[in-house]
Amino acid sequence: MKLIDFGVREDEKKYIQEWSKTNNIEVKIVTDLLTPETVKMAQGYDGIVAYQQLPYDEKIFDTMNDFGIHVLSLRNVGVDNIPFEALKRNNIRLTNVPSYSPEAIAEYSVAGLMALLRNFKHMIRKVDQHDFRWAPDIGRELNQLTVGVAGTGRIGRAAIKIYQGFGAKIIAYDKFHNPEIEKQGLYVDDLDTLLKESDVVTLHIPSLGKGHTVINKDTIAEMKDDAIVVNSARGDLINTTDLYDAIANGKLYGAVLDVYENEVGVFNTDLSDEEFTDKLLERVIKSNRIILTPHIAFYTTKAVKNMATVSLNSMVSELKDGSSENEINLDK
Ligand code: COI
Repeated sequence: MKLIDFGVREDEKKYIQEWSKTNNIEVKIVTDLLTPETVKMAQGYDGIVAYQQLPYDEKIFDTMNDFGIHVLSLRNVGVDNIPFEALKRNNIRLTNVPSYSPEAIAEYSVAGLMALLRNFKHMIRKVDQHDFRWAPDIGRELNQLTVGVAGTGRIGRAAIKIYQGFGAKIIAYDKFHNPEIEKQGLYVDDLDTLLKESDVVTLHIPSLGKGHTVINKDTIAEMKDDAIVVNSARGDLINTTDLYDAIANGKLYGAVLDVYENEVGVFNTDLSDEEFTDKLLERVIKSNRIILTPHIAFYTTKAVKNMATVSLNSMVSELKDGSSENEINLDK
């Protein structure tokens, strides 16, 4: 068996090399992303592993079919940039890594919220200027707040556990109820109730598709004054202009954003020597009440190792057994 792994970052290489040695399976490491051009490198390999944020072009899958390659294993969880129809047409199976570390994302969300509640961004900016005054950056305590968790999958549940440790009141919403969260009586009936009753709304749901936002000017109008939004899920869940305006005009207190609707091509890129053209993002970065990070919630040693190795394990199961526990149902 010979595998090829695309879009590999420097920090992933050692885990892939270790896996290759331990399993005695050749894995060619390619730093380029998977495109209609680069897929040609896969000729002669049995399976393709990849991760990228850019959309996967349909032509990639036609070429895979021509080469007799019928499995694509992703190193990440999100499948929102994959054209399912092109996979089905070419008889290609898809796997992801659904649970590389729910705790990584949950811990990030809580850390971001704590930093916002104690106004770290403005305080650090002031201290950098040798301004050591306290006001106006008086903090708020998490144990006094109601945290609304939207999405009670693995990440949402990991976040709930941490928030409970801080003594926050938790309410939760999900279309599908988790028995443990149900038993604790945390569910409210609908998303509107969650938005209305929360001091902090933290999003742990997948993308709802282009144009389908959870946080926008209509829903913000329903939210409590001084509420906070935390998003480490997907950028397109929020209308960023509406969120920014609500924070700038004092309706909302602030936000923690690890994802952004126009992040592709910007996040994890050094643009320090280039003219910055995204004016909205520039305003977000300047705001002392918005903590903005470049999609790093997942970026821990544990998660990166799991992404590199679980994707390869799934590929081996697919090639040996014709299926794996992480295979995505393309008809859903
Ligand atoms: C995903 O796994 O889909 C993520 O959002 C993390 C990604 C940046 C590796």
